[in-house]
Amino acid sequence: MDIIEKIIISEEEIAEIVKRLGKEISKDYEGKNILLICLLKGSILFLTDLMRQLTVPCKVDFMLASSYKGGTKKSGVGVEIKDGLSIDIKDQDVLVVEDILESGYTLKHIVNILSKRSPKSLKICTLLDKPKLRATDIEADYVGKIIPNDFVLGYGLDYDEYYRNLPFIGIINPKYL
Ligand code: IMP
Ligand code: MG
Repeated sequence: MDIIEKIIISEEEIAEIVKRLGKEISKDYEGKNILLICLLKGSILFLTDLMRQLTVPCKVDFMLASSYKGGTKKSGVGVEIKDGLSIDIKDQDVLVVEDILESGYTLKHIVNILSKRSPKSLKICTLLDKPKLRATDIEADYVGKIIPNDFVLGYGLDYDEYYRNLPFIGIINPKYL
C-alpha cells in the first residue's frame, strides 16, 4: 500500500499489547468498577479490543477530541473537545482511553475538564506514546508501546480521516507529508 512506508506494529503485536494492558488494568482495578472514557475517534478500535480483555466490570462513555485539522499538520488553534459524556463521572474510577500521546495538549484539556467533576480516580491509558514530542507535564499510567516521532496511521489512527480501518499500524510514506 503506497500510503504506508513501513508497518511498525503488526496485527499480532497489537493483540499482544492490548492483552498485556488488559491484564495490568484488571489487576490494578480488582474489586472496583471502571468507567472507560474513549477519546473519539482514534481510540475506537483500541477501546473495543481493550474492554474485551478486562475482567472487572466496566462502563463506557465517549468524548471527541481533535487537534489535527486534516492531513498531519496541527491546526495551531488548539484542541477541539466535544463533550458527549452521558454518564456522571462523580465518584467513579475513570480511565481515559487514548490512541496516541504526543505533546499532551489533548489529554491536558481532557484531564482539566474531567478532574473538575470529582471522579474518585482519574487515570490515562494510551496505546502509543511519542515521549520525545511531549510539551506538557502529562504522562499516561498505562502505555502500550513507545514509538519514534514519525506520523503513524491505522488501527483507529487516521490521515485526513482515512485509513482508520487498517488492522496494523504503519509509518506514513513521507511523500504524503
Ligand atoms: P497531542 O495533543 O499532541 O498529545 O496529540 C494527540 C492527538 O493527536 C492524538 O489523539 C491523535 O488524534 C493525534 N495524533 C498524534 N500523533 C498522531 C499520528 O502519528 N497519527 C495520527 N494521529 C496522531
Ligand atoms: Mg486522538
